Amino acid sequence: QPAIVGLRDEELLMMEDCLQRLHLELQHSAVTHDSEMIVDEESFAVLYQGAVEATISVSREQAATENAMLRLEARKRMFSAEYGEQRRARLSLPSWTQRQKIIDTIASNRVVVLTGETGCGKTTQVPQYLLEEAEALGFGAEVHIIVTQPRRIAAISVAERVAWERGEPLGKSVGYVIRLEDMPPRRHGSILYCTTGILLRRLQKADGLAGVSHVIVDEVHERELDTDFLLVVVRELLNVHPYLHVVIMSATLDASIFTRYFGGCPHVNIPGMIHPVQVYYLEDLPQLMGQFFPPATRQRKLGCSDEEDIDFELAAAVISWIAQYFAKGAGAILCFLPGWDMIAMLRDRLSKTPASKGMAIMALHSQLSAGEQRGAFTHPPGGMRKVVLATNIAETSVTIDDVVYVVDCGKIKHRQFDPSRNMTTMRVQWTSQASARQRQGRAGRVQAGFCFRLYTRDVHARMLEHQIPEMQRVPLEELCLQIKAIAAPNVVAEAASPGSNMSQLKGTMAVNTGMNDIAMFLSKALQPPKGTSVFAAVKVLRQLGAIDQYENLTPLGRTLAKLAVHPRFGKMLIYGTLLGCLDPLLTIAAAACFKDPFVVPISKRDEADKMRENFAINSAYASDHLVLVSAFEQWKKANLAGQGHSFCERHFLAPMTMKLIAGMRYQFEKTITEARVFDTWVTSDLEARTHVARCILTAGLYPNIAKSELCRESKGMKNATQHAYRWRLGFCVQNGRVFIHPTSVVNEKHLDPNKHYYLIYQEKVQTSQIYLRGCTLLPPLALVLLGWNVSISSDSGAAISGDWMLLEVEGWLKFHIDRRAGLLLLELRQAF
Ligand code: CDP
Ligand code: MG
Repeated sequence: QPAIVGLRDEELLMMEDCLQRLHLELQHSAVTHDSEMIVDEESFAVLYQGAVEATISVSREQAATENAMLRLEARKRMFSAEYGEQRRARLSLPSWTQRQKIIDTIASNRVVVLTGETGCGKTTQVPQYLLEEAEALGFGAEVHIIVTQPRRIAAISVAERVAWERGEPLGKSVGYVIRLEDMPPRRHGSILYCTTGILLRRLQKADGLAGVSHVIVDEVHERELDTDFLLVVVRELLNVHPYLHVVIMSATLDASIFTRYFGGCPHVNIPGMIHPVQVYYLEDLPQLMGQFFPPATRQRKLGCSDEEDIDFELAAAVISWIAQYFAKGAGAILCFLPGWDMIAMLRDRLSKTPASKGMAIMALHSQLSAGEQRGAFTHPPGGMRKVVLATNIAETSVTIDDVVYVVDCGKIKHRQFDPSRNMTTMRVQWTSQASARQRQGRAGRVQAGFCFRLYTRDVHARMLEHQIPEMQRVPLEELCLQIKAIAAPNVVAEAASPGSNMSQLKGTMAVNTGMNDIAMFLSKALQPPKGTSVFAAVKVLRQLGAIDQYENLTPLGRTLAKLAVHPRFGKMLIYGTLLGCLDPLLTIAAAACFKDPFVVPISKRDEADKMRENFAINSAYASDHLVLVSAFEQWKKANLAGQGHSFCERHFLAPMTMKLIAGMRYQFEKTITEARVFDTWVTSDLEARTHVARCILTAGLYPNIAKSELCRESKGMKNATQHAYRWRLGFCVQNGRVFIHPTSVVNEKHLDPNKHYYLIYQEKVQTSQIYLRGCTLLPPLALVLLGWNVSISSDSGAAISGDWMLLEVEGWLKFHIDRRAGLLLLELRQAF
């Protein structure tokens, strides 16, 4: 029997549903008055008793007042002329047509997967629908929605947009929290946009979700590490929080992988305004383009296009052919390329074609500043054809609204971490069929469009169905530490579901560790990482002393988890505190959180390299890390004098990144002080401070070490009968030869070939060769003192002979050292 009069059926259902969820029964009827819905006081009492239970921290009186106030505000918004513009914008979005369906499905299910094309209104509208509905029904104060975003910028801009749509300043019912910046909304009746990392950190506290009614995980199709991690946590939390509703939002149409993950939960799709797109493959192009088709491409066999190569000539030909063949001005051309360097190359190539006079060529990739990116969204003057050369950022994250032609090279630049070699590879690879489909869809937003794939049907058929998720591509130390720090113990401790491909992973882990809850946790991910990756990460954590042999967090580990930085850098901060040289290490750790602040324009590479070298401190030990420190110090001074921007321009630094580093430094300093690791103290001796900081890099980056060696290099032709060799100083790591990355200030040419050098590196990357990035030369004593696998050599009978002893580090670096000094060193190591 309906107990409330004057409500629409679905409102009633929702109300009942809400009460059911709260295990309450509505005893008293409500009356309608002047078309405004009023629930009588008694019923309200029941409702906010529920609110008290659901949100813990509201008193009955408070909830009643807040609910009534929110309802008034909602009514005002709905009917006043003031919000006309906002209303028109919102009503025109595709999501509006599905509003009721979305609200109902979310209300009657714990988990819902929601899909819809980028721009259809998922991120900005869905949270508003939920809040507005609750406000109108008189329980607005019980709704607190958290929406996670993979990117900081998106979180702010979306929050600003939604606050505007609600006619409010930020920080009232709508807010955001990202690292270093926050503008949180009030606690009840609100929408909070935050980065995925922020929510994960919040979940380290036991009451992290107190008062939260909905968690919306946005942009899950990106399969970013934190998002995949959050999905595991959220799935477990559903059992702990009986009132929590979860919405999973994706911009790709195929949602089956997510619905399956959540036990066949319902899926709502927001149909977009997609027009048909005609697709052509490489083999169709010769006939289509006729004489425009480049003869060189024709000569190469179409079927065997090389995976790493981009056929710039073909791409340029197709773009200029479109520009000439199809009616002028009618629609922009969007070309997908793997990286910004390739964008620059194609741009170069294009500008040499005769057709380029009628084109406005724009670039779009994440390295551009927001201002530079804006070019891609402007409309060029009449008659000009807009050509946007973009990375896969234009696939889903941003939308260019006038694209009619898509040219797809079919490639993507991928970082892939190989745990067995402790190496990251950067390779250009074929994209997946899913992303090819997504790219194609970008052509049909305004009218029927065209997509030209610069690869054959055969290649397309062989592409992966989906992109490899980040969790299977990157080192997992930070993630594993987070898993240990997540507060809900049942999340971690539960046994892995039988039958998953986990038993295999478990097998690997059980042999090597005591308890294996990290591996077990990760086995529950959408697509779990390889056992070797998990094992490698756990090993690093154990070597760092963040976890013990039973995988329990150590006090050091607990502090490291709080620091929100890779545990390697976290440990450096702690050592820095201990040894009185925190300041430079703060900069180094903060810089490690962002992209390299040095930007290298392709046309000015030499000039930029020189500028970077100017920051190098005059010392026998060249260091990329200390270059960052001195660049930052000088920038800070310039910035205080109001000249930060021009300083950056002169020195090829990215101003935005410098500001982020400054903010992060502050954050770390605060955390370190609050963590009360040790009393912070600072040596006044600047030179000593830098030198000690340099040595401390070992504590974190170990065992990423390399040693110089003389290498014989063949000079002449390889097959010539007369070999000419020259000797050159190179570097070797434990298993093979490597090169210093060309951007490094450690330059083999400046080193004395008759001396031994040791360096510590941040990352080993394979592109055309194996490169070490982020290098710092070190005195060998630092390795012996702060590295962790030092032994007195036993393989040589003369290990300890006379006044000398042989120290071995990690079994492959050897030092002869004065015997008494050596023994003292080993003793000192014990103290650490
Ligand atoms: O999340 P989804 O990609 O489905 O769309 P959205 O971010 O909710 O955006 C919906 C619409 O709001 C877009 O089509 C834009 O017109 C507008 N919008 C805006 O103007 N400014 C923003 N910062 C975000 C969205
Ligand atoms: Mg969105």
